[in-house]
Amino acid sequence: MKLNKLLSPLVTDTITLKNRVVMAPMSRRRAQNGVPNSSYELYFAQRAGAGLIITDNTAVTANGTGYLNVPGIYNEAQKAGWKKVVDAVHARGGKIIVQLVHAGRIGHSLNYEGNEPIVAPSAVQASGVMRIPGDLHVPMPVPKALTTEGTKAMVQAHIQAAINAIEVGFDGVEIHGAHGFLPEQFLNPHTNRRTDEYGGSIENRSRFLLEIMKGVVAAIGKEKTGIRLSPFARINDLPAYEEEAETYKYVIDELQKLDILYIHLSALVSDGSSSIPTAFLQDVRSRFNNLLMLAGGFTAASAENILQQNLVNLVAFGKPFIANPDLVERFRNNTELAIPDPETFYQGGDAGYIDYPAIHTNERSHCAAL
Ligand SMILES: Cc1cc2nc3c(=O)[nH]c(=O)nc-3n(C[C@H](O)[C@H](O)[C@H](O)COP(=O)(O)O)c2cc1C
Repeated sequence: MKLNKLLSPLVTDTITLKNRVVMAPMSRRRAQNGVPNSSYELYFAQRAGAGLIITDNTAVTANGTGYLNVPGIYNEAQKAGWKKVVDAVHARGGKIIVQLVHAGRIGHSLNYEGNEPIVAPSAVQASGVMRIPGDLHVPMPVPKALTTEGTKAMVQAHIQAAINAIEVGFDGVEIHGAHGFLPEQFLNPHTNRRTDEYGGSIENRSRFLLEIMKGVVAAIGKEKTGIRLSPFARINDLPAYEEEAETYKYVIDELQKLDILYIHLSALVSDGSSSIPTAFLQDVRSRFNNLLMLAGGFTAASAENILQQNLVNLVAFGKPFIANPDLVERFRNNTELAIPDPETFYQGGDAGYIDYPAIHTNERSHCAAL
């Protein structure tokens, strides 16, 4: 199949990308104290052939870290680490956006420094366990409910993180509004039982996420601001709710008013069926005029197909980028894809991180794609 659209540049008033293949955000959890090290530089530089790279989810505060060894962007050491990553990607002609996360109730206080408790919209514990230092797995704590003041402080933390990101040279930021982390904990009435202006109605449950978006747009510019959403994906113990579709439609209409760079939808695909029905995707497409990106189980052929249908402007690939640093070249040459090892997705140091070779290099080269 010819990949005319997938491999062609995307040029808009706000951004130029060399192709429509996006590297999806993937938490690889190798940042001691939240600081990206030199392996991060190499990992992302190897993947600079993507039209756009979106980084691992990156914490906006210490208690937003979530999983062990997730990077942050709230202190100077972290910013210095990220600056080297950004410079390495830019030197290779790539573009890179940071995904900003506050994990809310998904986390553990032993996974970050300091005494701040785990927080959430309401004191509703997530089911499941969390890996902590020592390779132990323990239940997630009952989170402390944020006060109204505390909620506003979390909005500010996202805005400050976005400012930090632009300071170190990122091409933009993606607010992580997906996968059951803090913004989605506000959207979902199961985890949001608040009675202040941040709870109750659709408008109130959406307020936290939209205040972040408005604040980030004002601070760094709408053309540098994106968001990830995962409607109907049941991740991190968030159940379905009656007004779910209406909530997302409201949020997407508000995001259109803000005229942001993109919306990135994350779909869960199992047994060939997507958590985002086509009719819903079409509805989003009709509401949102700027760049629309979709991730979840794509091959080169299915990506080309959905681009040809004009349903989305960009397709993000996750797992294929792990074992194929030169994914775009492999698409171009119709080369077989390497299969990644799930054992090293979230741990393992350099193994399974920077040692997957590009196709044209020999086995001995560690700088495979460079
Ligand atoms: C190892 C791994 C880590 C991930 N970490 C993140 C993350 O930090 N943020 C996020 O929004 N999605 C994350 N995802 C989801 C991916 O961005 C993507 O949506 C998912 O892998 C589906 O795309 P794929 O079928 O092309 O892999 C992760 C996925 C994997 C496999």
